Amino acid sequence: MQTPNLMEAKKRTKIEPKTINYKLDNKYKDLGKNKKYYIKTYGCQMNEHDTENIKAILEQMAFQETDNMENADLILLNTCAIRENAHNKVFGMVGRIKHLKESKPNIITGMCGCMVQEEVVANEILNKYKWLDIVFGTHNINELPKLLEKSLKEKKLELEVYSIEGDIIENMPAKRDSKYKAWVNIMYGCDKFCTYCIVPYTRGKQRSRTKENILKEVNELKTNGYKEVTLLGQNVNAYGKDFNANYDMSDLLEETAKTGIERVRFVTSHPWDFTDKMIEVIAKYPNIMPYIHLPLQSGSDRILKLMGRRYTKESYLKLFNKIKETIPNVSITTDIIVGFPGETEKDFNETLDVVNTCKYDSAFTFIFSPREGTPAARMEDNTPKEIKEQRLYQLNDLVNKYAKEANQRYLNKTVPVLLENISEKDENMLMGYTDTMKLVNVKAPKDKIGQIVKVKITDIKTWSLDGEIISEN
Ligand code: SAH
Ligand code: SF4
Ligand code: F3S
Repeated sequence: MQTPNLMEAKKRTKIEPKTINYKLDNKYKDLGKNKKYYIKTYGCQMNEHDTENIKAILEQMAFQETDNMENADLILLNTCAIRENAHNKVFGMVGRIKHLKESKPNIITGMCGCMVQEEVVANEILNKYKWLDIVFGTHNINELPKLLEKSLKEKKLELEVYSIEGDIIENMPAKRDSKYKAWVNIMYGCDKFCTYCIVPYTRGKQRSRTKENILKEVNELKTNGYKEVTLLGQNVNAYGKDFNANYDMSDLLEETAKTGIERVRFVTSHPWDFTDKMIEVIAKYPNIMPYIHLPLQSGSDRILKLMGRRYTKESYLKLFNKIKETIPNVSITTDIIVGFPGETEKDFNETLDVVNTCKYDSAFTFIFSPREGTPAARMEDNTPKEIKEQRLYQLNDLVNKYAKEANQRYLNKTVPVLLENISEKDENMLMGYTDTMKLVNVKAPKDKIGQIVKVKITDIKTWSLDGEIISEN
């Protein structure tokens, strides 16, 4: 058993990360024969992609997927620790799983992901949820087969969570959700240590994959018919900074574009590392999508400083304007936290001010949630919950107003859409995203799924657009 440790998770050394080549040992390959697995994923794209890896590993072991938890022989929760409500949701689910386990004691139950990387959560599991069978963290997904075997043999909880800076694990298989668009990890971990954020503790040190491995993956995806890749990391603009090589995110974006894959995206961009060269490369290559997620967090310099974000309102706006001026038709979205410890009405108004200036295409907004072990959790916080909620509502009203305005500009325009699937709201329609990441429900024949087509926008809804395929496609 290995339990996580907050002090260890904070450490950053100069030790180079190891690269481990994943390969399933033959002795595990029938472990899941005649067994079904169910996995539920919480959190960000990183977790979604980890789930794709976990699914593929399980299927190498002959497990089969089910989307019905009640029918599963193995139930896994891939968890997120970013805010308190993510925690509560997961523990609610653990309660349901306990019921199932009581009626079917042979089912295997497990938790993985960012939450179990927290010392407090691991202790809670050991105190209250010892009936779980396997618990593993973000650093050792590759050990899943071994843990499963051990737990099945010894019939007791296998908890293995490492608080290490982390390795780079190559060659993990992936059962991707889509046949047309794919996540491609370009880096793991984060070294920014924004004072409110748990991610540097749950995901370890920033480790960039080599450009050779990334480009190989992109080329393979392209050969296999994928139309879109999203380069993935907590702070992709810092790509390569851990190598000391003369190769950065702008170089990687350029080489990815040159593979000729039809669409290249990337998330998430920290404003601090966004270089002019990156902006130029994005503007130059038509297959790099004009869509940038540029988290603001706060518009107040005082709060930004307390958050450890390393930019000011002024430098953020400068960057924002440069992006808007250089990349035609670009859509920019953001993340904002309200109610950070000590945020005053004046600070909050500064945030509204930036929103009024930037008129974001959309924004994810959150109330600050103290995460144990982070510096912000220890800061004095006198703002009542009701005031924070009121600020969130006020901010959301403004954000929604601009999101609607941004959508309005699409009416009667013709835009490229990668058709992905049958629409969820109408089975006679298809759904997909524009280059600028707008969700569109499209009147189009089903055989167009998987293609990028021209769509005329005919109607504007609050959260999506409606359109029809135009005939020359
Ligand atoms: N790496 C990304 C953010 C990943 S987390 C970046 O730096 O931009 C996604 C979002 O969750 C953050 O942008 C932030 O707005 C929000 N978030 C993170 N920690 C939070 C906390 N403790 N309370 C509330 N929101 C938080
Ligand atoms: Fe968290 Fe900041 Fe890293 Fe983003 S950059 S993951 S907010 S510490
Ligand atoms: Fe959550 Fe971990 Fe992502 S904390 S947001 S799943 S990196």
